Amino acid sequence: MSTSGDESKAAPTSSACLEDLLAQAVGAVRRAAAFALDPGEELRVEAKAHRNDLVTQVDRGVEERIAGCLEATGIPIHGEEAHRVEDFETYRGRAWVLDPIDGTLNYVSTHRDWAISLALVDDGVPVLAALADPVAGRLYTAIRGRGARVEPLTGEAVGCDGVASKALEPVKDLPLSEGMVVAHYQLTQHAGIGRAIEGSRGMRCYGAAALEMAEVAAGGAVVYAQPLLQPWDVAAGALLCTETGVVLTRMDGSAFDVRRAGSLLVGSPAAHAEVLEYLSPDRC
Ligand code: IPD
Ligand code: CA
Ligand code: CA
Repeated sequence: MSTSGDESKAAPTSSACLEDLLAQAVGAVRRAAAFALDPGEELRVEAKAHRNDLVTQVDRGVEERIAGCLEATGIPIHGEEAHRVEDFETYRGRAWVLDPIDGTLNYVSTHRDWAISLALVDDGVPVLAALADPVAGRLYTAIRGRGARVEPLTGEAVGCDGVASKALEPVKDLPLSEGMVVAHYQLTQHAGIGRAIEGSRGMRCYGAAALEMAEVAAGGAVVYAQPLLQPWDVAAGALLCTETGVVLTRMDGSAFDVRRAGSLLVGSPAAHAEVLEYLSPDRC
């Protein structure tokens, strides 16, 4: 994945240290997921920027719990609800990036397809990810350069849905015609994406960016496109994608930097290239 920083100057990160940090991240996410699945009280829902931009006491409670668990790491947190790293767009060094509930609208209304997304970013590059799909009972994890895994959220060898702990395979380099596109509903009005969807096996929209990225990393869809996402939406999913050979760029093909809000296009190398072609301004 490209970043706008000068990676050659980044301090090397010890893998042993990352293993310890991953264990702490996984513990924090598991405890927070148990709370979010059963908060023990009625949901209190508030709107933020607009009527469909929701937050509940559970979003805030998850962020607070995970921040508490990670406090001892001494690493600052950039979280959606209550924690900010100043000037994060150009921040160098390590930071936890947290979306306490990705897909709050789903959490409140359909009660599935929501995630807890936690990543450690070092000089703008995701180096560790712990991403829970609590309703499916799945936990995706990754350490940069060491592949990505999926395992039961419970920590058992096999989950109640039969999912065993296993490494995610490198994605098959399927063309667009062989797979599904996951796209934000606004993009169905986008001429280029519309043509790409017509050339694919169909379109899905789950409403949780982190899980939509995980879907491509796990080989369930060949492309995911979104017009605007924030660092906490994408940091963990981006590592799952890079670790499985999924290509990440902005929708105009430019380099993707998780520290900056913007569009996202991820896909198998072949399907990503095809969609970029559909999006090319020169194409009639
Ligand atoms: C949202 C989800 C959704 C995406 C929005 C995000 P939130 O996150 O990821 O799929 O379309 O742009 O804001 O607000 O539920 O954390
Ligand atoms: Ca989100
Ligand atoms: Ca959120």
